[in-house]
Amino acid sequence: MPGKSILLLLGLFVVAVACFKTGDEIDDSACIEELQSRQVTWVGDVLPVIQVSCQNCHGSTPQAPATQNLTVAATVQAYFNPANDTNGPGLMARLTTNNKRMPPDGGLGPCDVEKFRKWQSDGFLP
Ligand code: HEC
Repeated sequence: MPGKSILLLLGLFVVAVACFKTGDEIDDSACIEELQSRQVTWVGDVLPVIQVSCQNCHGSTPQAPATQNLTVAATVQAYFNPANDTNGPGLMARLTTNNKRMPPDGGLGPCDVEKFRKWQSDGFLP
């Protein structure tokens, strides 16, 4: 009975998608747990995220209307202070809310956000 096979296939598909999602969540929590076990650094953790997710617009020639080259640690550090973000809510709010969200097309995953947060709490290590 073809109807049944289609239902079965659909069921398998739903289960497979559910498993992938759980896999991602496990990856995120394992990644965050690993960060908690050590200190986060600019070169080892934050810069690689910026190179993948921010540098296209915030490289050495920032793409207007972006103004900042965020491949420089001191520049990124300054934006943790919302007072320095004259057109927005500050770096962490840009990464975690829809207020001028960065990157504009959807934002970073939880572990990448945690790298920024813990870079600050560990003392902005190089
Ligand atoms: C597709 C291009 C694009 C990407 C990718 C992008 N940004 Fe932006 N960003 C902009 C634009 C345009 C502005 C100016 C408008 C505004 O203030 O929101 C901006 C502004 C900013 C500002 C304020 C300083 C400035 O340059 O004007 C910060 C801080 C910022 N982005 C952080 C980030 C971070 C961190 C990432 C990566 C996680 C990122 N952005 C990725 C386009 C981008």
